[in-house]
Amino acid sequence: MGVSRGGFSSRLGFIMAAAGSAVGLGNIWGFPTQTASNGGAAFVLVYLVLAFCLAYPAFMAELLIGRYGQANAVTSMQKIARNTREKRFGFVVGFGGIICAALILSFYGIIAGWMISYAVEPLALLAGFNESANWLTNHSLTRNILFTTCFMALTIFIIRRGVEQGIEKWSKRLMPMLIGLLILLIIYVFTLDGSRAGFEAYLNPDISRVLEPDLLISALGQAFFSLSLGTSVMIIYGSYIAKKENLVTLGAQVTLIDVSIAFLAGLLIIPAMYVAQAQGVAIFAEDGSLISGSNLVFTVLPALFSGMGYVGLFVAFGFFVLMSIAALTSSISMLEGPVSFAVERHDIPREKATTMIGLGILLLSTIIVVNLDWMLDFVAILSTQYGQPIIAMLCCIFAGWVWQRSGILAEIKQGNAEVEHSVFWKIWPWYTKFVCPTAIALVFWHSLAS
Ligand code: TRP
Repeated sequence: MGVSRGGFSSRLGFIMAAAGSAVGLGNIWGFPTQTASNGGAAFVLVYLVLAFCLAYPAFMAELLIGRYGQANAVTSMQKIARNTREKRFGFVVGFGGIICAALILSFYGIIAGWMISYAVEPLALLAGFNESANWLTNHSLTRNILFTTCFMALTIFIIRRGVEQGIEKWSKRLMPMLIGLLILLIIYVFTLDGSRAGFEAYLNPDISRVLEPDLLISALGQAFFSLSLGTSVMIIYGSYIAKKENLVTLGAQVTLIDVSIAFLAGLLIIPAMYVAQAQGVAIFAEDGSLISGSNLVFTVLPALFSGMGYVGLFVAFGFFVLMSIAALTSSISMLEGPVSFAVERHDIPREKATTMIGLGILLLSTIIVVNLDWMLDFVAILSTQYGQPIIAMLCCIFAGWVWQRSGILAEIKQGNAEVEHSVFWKIWPWYTKFVCPTAIALVFWHSLAS
């Protein structure tokens, strides 16, 4: 199976693919708004610390399980398990992650579809099709179904081609575009009136808030969502990495890219909101907090773009293309989990498995679209606020308590003989055993209570 299942052909390929999975709507939309509503730079500071101290170790647990197993999430976990009980546990965690990824994709695809339709709107306006442009942003049922289908078709198209020709190739194309677009947009917003106030709001830490439980919980939740933990995606991506690679460094590089792009996105979104305010757009909600959620992306920012006149069409196009790319490099990783499972466990050819599973998830998306008022939130909360933390925690428990210490250390050492002298070697096994599961459990508990 080793050769035929494919894998990343290069280190860069893996970094782009894993960073592509991690960098998504969560970074560009979620992170800046969380920052805005949680004391600005204080949140950024806490986020940085938690991302490296808690999310990164959990992220490494998933990568190591995958690289050890060199197979889909369930098989990889079961290769580590030594008896039937442990194998069952492995199945629950691995399969739970796959289901969680599929559920996330079912609502993520809808939101990504909106991004595509908002990217097409300025093109329609440029071409003089004003009525079509209106339709593209009117949130009708037909539009939602059509664009969710478009987005899923793109995701299916890439995953059908496999790891190297699909995931790796497209991540290597799309990620540099994403970073380029993001930087161009930041530079442009920099030049506009009002952006300075935004930078100040974003970069001035309100240090007194650093230890607030709510802030800590939001930051950790955001870090987990952002690194795609608890969805077995990193197990499967880990399984495509060669044994000669240094996993500890690769994982750290991906975490760094993820965190940096979230930080950059804040430099775009928050100043852009203040520019909008300078143009008379309301950016604060009634309770005094910055407007976040879908109103930010689909009301505040479009109001800003349309106030810019002709240039605004290009800026809007750039922004929504950026969002669509971010979503696509994440969605392919969500589909890869279930597909690799079907291919390896049930011997279904990749192309067939991809199309079948993709269409199945699209069907679920369609059901959600028809019941948008309650089902979107329901599926989002179920998968990201319950599924992800629970499965990420079980993954750490699995790596810390089921996997034998000698086995785990041997896997860390592959491609990284020097690691024995590092801090990672000394504290990580202990961390994954005790600190990570406890911290995740605490955060989960608190988020339920609030
Ligand atoms: N990390 C993605 C983002 O920031 C979202 C995400 C959550 C995800 N879970 C995932 C992506 C699982 C891929 C797979 O938007």
